[in-house]
Amino acid sequence: MAKSDTIRQLDDHFRRENIRNVVILTDKNVDHLYGDYFSELSEQVAVDKLVLRPGEKTKSIQTAAQVWNYLAEKQYDKDTFLLNFGGGVITDLGGFVASTYKRGIRFANVPTTLLAMIDAAVGGKTGVNLPSMKNGVGTIYFPDIQLPVDLSFLNTLHINEIFSGLGELLKYALIGSNELFHSLRKRRRFPSLTTEDVDFCIDFKMKIVRKDPYDKGIRHILNFGHTFGHAIESYCAKTGKPIAHGLAVAQGLYYESLLSTRLGHLPQEEWQLIAALLTKHFQIMPITDDIREELLYYMLNDKKNHNNMINFTLLNHIGHAIPDFQIPASELQTYMS
Ligand code: GLY
Repeated sequence: MAKSDTIRQLDDHFRRENIRNVVILTDKNVDHLYGDYFSELSEQVAVDKLVLRPGEKTKSIQTAAQVWNYLAEKQYDKDTFLLNFGGGVITDLGGFVASTYKRGIRFANVPTTLLAMIDAAVGGKTGVNLPSMKNGVGTIYFPDIQLPVDLSFLNTLHINEIFSGLGELLKYALIGSNELFHSLRKRRRFPSLTTEDVDFCIDFKMKIVRKDPYDKGIRHILNFGHTFGHAIESYCAKTGKPIAHGLAVAQGLYYESLLSTRLGHLPQEEWQLIAALLTKHFQIMPITDDIREELLYYMLNDKKNHNNMINFTLLNHIGHAIPDFQIPASELQTYMS
């Protein structure tokens, strides 16, 4: 889908819903590249723009307060529409602001990274980080309209960010489509993405979110790769070598697929295919004795866990996942090598 589809759908939506004021929330990098993306919106809406500093540090309660204050000082009322234009930081933060300003205003996301297109901007999870916890504060609050994604944004995305999105894309293949997995495995060029790949991820996520919007059960399958992934991400940040979220998730997919096999759920041959694909395209950090302790510490402190048990989604086949295995930390230690 192209920019013209996004603009047309927004125009139609604003007309239908009688929306008069739109505030675009974006960051400096996106604004620099795509500052006039919405210039063709109908003149019936007044468009304002707030440009934030790029980067994960922006996803904070302080920036949320800055945006709340901006909206309040400009006297934006409850009918104001927030248009979040950027990657996951902007869509998470913007969704959070939309869900809380005047107890909730309407919003939509126009994601510009692969990761945001297939994950962050879909499904209504919003939030900001706390110094001690990623996504420590947030809400589940759904966009007013789910817009088509514009894959042309990927042309200006750094290759590292593309691979970060591919980590999440591979997750969707592993939990939801044996066919997509084998198609990715056989591609001569990697990453060579199609609209169908991206649409599969969004449709799959939407299907799960419709079944479990408030994340009580089946939605947990979307966390596959994230228990190890978040721990690896935190460990790397702590050692001063931060890595992109999806690159940590790719490593999480590796270790959680291995765990699925070691616990007798995923056949060995399928594990080998997964390991071959992941090690071909991603760097997988070996888990040495000292790293094992640290990863366990982060996993135990994950907000999904309690009572020294660690929550995992596991695979029983490529394309099929089962949520909510509770594994005691002491037992997990024996499987981590
Ligand atoms: N990122 C996982 C979810 O939205 O549930």
